[in-house]
Amino acid sequence: MRLPREQLPSGPRGLPVLGAVVDYAKDPLGFIERCAWGGFGDVVYIDFLGQPTYVLQHPEHIEHVLVTRHRNYVKDKLQRRVLGGRLLGNGLLTSEGDFWLRQRRLMQPAFHRQRLALHGRVMAEHARRRLASWRDGEVRDVYADMMELTLGIAVKCLFDLETEGEAESVGPALARVMEHFADMYALLLPEWLPTPENLGYRAAVGRLDAFVSGLIQRRREAGNDAGDLLSLLLQVQDEDGSRMSDAQIRDEVLTLVLAGHETTAITLAFCWHLLARHPEVEATLHRELDAVLGGREPTAEDLPALVFTDHVVKEALRLYPPAWSLSREALEDDEVGGWRVLAGSMMILNPWTTHRDPRFFEEPEAFRPQRWADGLEQRLPRYAWFPFGGGPRLCIGSGFALMEARLVLATLARRFRFERVPDDRVELLPSITLRPKHGVRVRLRARESGR
Ligand code: HEM
Repeated sequence: MRLPREQLPSGPRGLPVLGAVVDYAKDPLGFIERCAWGGFGDVVYIDFLGQPTYVLQHPEHIEHVLVTRHRNYVKDKLQRRVLGGRLLGNGLLTSEGDFWLRQRRLMQPAFHRQRLALHGRVMAEHARRRLASWRDGEVRDVYADMMELTLGIAVKCLFDLETEGEAESVGPALARVMEHFADMYALLLPEWLPTPENLGYRAAVGRLDAFVSGLIQRRREAGNDAGDLLSLLLQVQDEDGSRMSDAQIRDEVLTLVLAGHETTAITLAFCWHLLARHPEVEATLHRELDAVLGGREPTAEDLPALVFTDHVVKEALRLYPPAWSLSREALEDDEVGGWRVLAGSMMILNPWTTHRDPRFFEEPEAFRPQRWADGLEQRLPRYAWFPFGGGPRLCIGSGFALMEARLVLATLARRFRFERVPDDRVELLPSITLRPKHGVRVRLRARESGR
């Protein structure tokens, strides 16, 4: 069933049959910006390949979908097919219902505060190692650096391995998998079609599979507790005593590697980009680091005192949310913002545009970490800033990610300044995540006071 036109909110007109998909695929950010600022209101209607779709801008409507009526809004089919399928299977990001809830409960302890403190040591140590390869005056792609760094941290925390050794194959295979997601049209084709793109993608997933399966098998045989996330997943038991199967552990582990490392690398890369363009903000950051740390390297215990560092990360997540767009599908009829929504409709929630809404953020395009001082977060409507989603499906790794981003930022910024280079424009590539297409280039300058 479809609602008559007059019962639908307005929105940008698309083509017959294809609807908005062509405009969207051409320029996803431009398209959602037109939805948000095109004068259509807070609830915008589009036809997406024949599927009725609502684009929501207001925090209250976002809360309605993610929290208040979360049972009615599940991960949509496209998302589950593309991400679920061969890659993440029935992992936490893509599973649903009772199965998802059981897994979430089993995995939550791995992200408790005490566990995070242990990971904090790994994060700081890996950041320090990165410093050893940086030279005063050189121009670097810090996105590539951050990808290597966060992958190294993820692999150590998950498997107690180093990327230079046994896990060497993981980086290139993950890079190939992520390349696949950058091709919007390739994603619309079924995974089983033997196109060269699909074959390359399948081979990369196969390499990841072989790596993770080998690791699980060896760990089971050795039976030891390495103190990492994999050991925890192997040990956890449900109330009825049942454990996760190897296939399920494989899905969860790949989900954590994939969901966990690129998002944090993007956040850090944009921090460097923004700091290089705003030396006055960088100077404030340095003052805080020098005052709080003196000559010391930062540790997780310093984080509560590194308030401005935290605001830099929050502001980078506001302007460049790695998960720039979330989607859900309605199970039953509902009403959002006074508009009737039929079962099967898709809901699109975009941190990219809501984070830029002038009703909530003054001068929304400006990079101003100081805006987060004096409790802005408490004053804002809860879902005006939601880089980690919300409700029961809130990012399980948000604490891990925030700790990692702040510790890496503090460790590296203590020792280096970041200078703009000519033509430092960053081209954005919005796929599953929002990443810098050609990296982020900055010039490094050693800081005397950071030694
Ligand atoms: C800055 C870094 C990160 C950002 C911006 C981010 C963002 C998000 C968002 C928005 C969601 C919700 C998606 C939705 O509702 O459709 C999510 C879910 C998830 N994230 Fe993150 N994430 C980050 C880091 C991490 C890390 C470090 C890990 C793991 C170590 C992780 C693991 C997950 C998992 C497993 C889910 C699915 C949770 C569930 O549905 O129960 N993420 N993330």
